[in-house]
Amino acid sequence: MKITVIGSGYVGLVTAACFSETGLDVWCMDTDRDKVDRLNAGRCPIYEPSLPELIARNSAAGRLHFTTDLSVCLDGADVAFIAVGTPEGEDGSADVSYVRNVAHSVGRLMHDDLVVVVKSTVPVGTCAEVESILRDELAARNADFTFDVASNPEFLKEGHAVNDFMTPDRVIIGVQSERARAVMAELYRPFMMSADRILFMDRASSEMTKYTANAMLATRISFMNDIACLCERVGAKVDMVRRGIGMDQRIGPKFLYAGCGYGGSCFPKDVKALIATAASHGCRMDVLEAVERVNARQKTVLFEKISRHFGGDPAGRTVAVWGLAFKPGTDDMREAPSLVLIDALLKAGCRVRAFDPVAMDRAHAILGDAVFFAPDMYAAAEGADALAVVTEWKQFRLPDWKRLHELMASPVVFDGRNVYREETLAQAGFTGYRIG
Ligand SMILES: NC(=O)c1ccc[n+]([C@@H]2O[C@H](COP(=O)([O-])OP(=O)(O)OC[C@H]3O[C@@H](n4cnc5c(N)ncnc54)[C@H](O)[C@@H]3O)[C@@H](O)[C@H]2O)c1
Repeated sequence: MKITVIGSGYVGLVTAACFSETGLDVWCMDTDRDKVDRLNAGRCPIYEPSLPELIARNSAAGRLHFTTDLSVCLDGADVAFIAVGTPEGEDGSADVSYVRNVAHSVGRLMHDDLVVVVKSTVPVGTCAEVESILRDELAARNADFTFDVASNPEFLKEGHAVNDFMTPDRVIIGVQSERARAVMAELYRPFMMSADRILFMDRASSEMTKYTANAMLATRISFMNDIACLCERVGAKVDMVRRGIGMDQRIGPKFLYAGCGYGGSCFPKDVKALIATAASHGCRMDVLEAVERVNARQKTVLFEKISRHFGGDPAGRTVAVWGLAFKPGTDDMREAPSLVLIDALLKAGCRVRAFDPVAMDRAHAILGDAVFFAPDMYAAAEGADALAVVTEWKQFRLPDWKRLHELMASPVVFDGRNVYREETLAQAGFTGYRIG
C-alpha cells in the first residue's frame, strides 16, 4: 500500500515515519521547500526523541520519501493523510484554510480512487466540507474516481510522539463507508497487535472527540491553577492536595500539576476554537471561557511574584530563565509561557539570561537579541538576581546548588513548575517561590 502524508510538521512527520516503519511505502509532502530539502539531506527539522533515527532508517530502506510535489505523492496512492496546520484564526476559531487548500489540490491532482484522511485538528463539519470540495474538483475535471473522507484526529504528545503513535491509548476514526473503515483498520493493525484500541464512529463525533479531549486536559490544569492560588492564600500546599485527590480513582493523577500556565500548539488554540464553534451554534462554553481566563492569568504569575519580591520595581535586575520550550521534550515555542514572562521582564526593564536544552534557536528567532542566550544552565545563572524555572526539563531537577549559589548575585528561585521541594531550596540557602 502507498500512502501520502500532506504536511510534514510535528504530526505529519511522525505519522509518515511511523507508518513507513510498518513496511508501507510513504510519501511525505510539504510546501516548505527548505524543510523538504533538510529532510532529504538527512536532517530532522524538529526536535522529537527517536524521530531522526526512524526517519533515517526508513529513508535508507527506500520506504520514506520527502517531496514538494503533490502529484508524485498521489500517483498510485491508496490513502492521503492531511496533516497541515489549523492555527488560531482572528476570531479564535480554527483557521481551516490550509486544509481546504489541500483538499482543492488533491481533487485537482488525484489520479485514482483514494481514501482521504483528515488528521489535522478540525472543527465539526470539516470532513464533510473536504468531501464536497473533492466532489466539486472531480466534477470540474469530469473525473469519476471513487473517494472516501475519514476523520482520524491525532493524540500524540510532543516529546513522546513516536511512542504515542506506536502504542496509542486509542485510535479514533470517523468514517461513512465500509471501504474507508476496512482501509483504516488495515493501516492501524500493526499498532494494535497487543490490544485492539481502534474506536470507529461517525465523522462529526470523531472531530468533536479531539477537541473535547484537549479541552478536558486544559480544564484540569486551569482548575488546579485556581486551586493553587487559593492554597497560597489559605496556607495549604497544592502538591499535597494534588496527590491527595489524584489517588482517587475517579479523578486519577494526570494533568493535575499547578504551574505557570499551559502553552503549546494545541491546548490554547483548541480551547478557543471549541468556544468559537459553540458560539457559531448559539451556545456558550462557560467552563472553557474560565479555563482560558485562568490560563492567561497564570502565565503572568511568575512575573508578579518576581516583581513583588523586588518591591514592585524589578527594573535593572537580571533574571535567569531556565526552560523556554512550552514543555520538556520539544523545541516547540508556540504559546510558551516563557514568552509571556520574558516579555514582561523586558518591559519592566530587567535583563534576561535564558537557557533551554533544545529550543534556543527557535526562541532566538522569536525574541532576537533582547535576551542573552547562555550556552548552558549555569552560564544563564551567572550574576543573576533571580532564577525562574519555566520548563521542567529533567536536567534542571537536581542542579548543583552550591555552584548556583556562588554564581548568582542573589540566591532566589521562582519555581514555575514546582520542581524543587521547599526544604531543598531552604537547605541550599535559597529563597524559594513556588506555585501554590
Ligand atoms: N503538534 C502537536 O502536538 C499536535 C498533536 C495533535 C494534533 N495536532 C494537530 O495536527 C495539525 C498539524 O499540527 P503540527 O503541529 O504538525 O503543525 P506544523 O505547523 O508543525 O506543520 C504543518 C505543516 O504543514 C505544511 N503545510 C501547510 N500548507 C500546506 C500545503 N498546502 N501542502 C503541504 N503542506 C502544507 C507546513 O509547511 C508545515 O510544515 C494541527 O491541526 C494540529 O492542531 C498537533
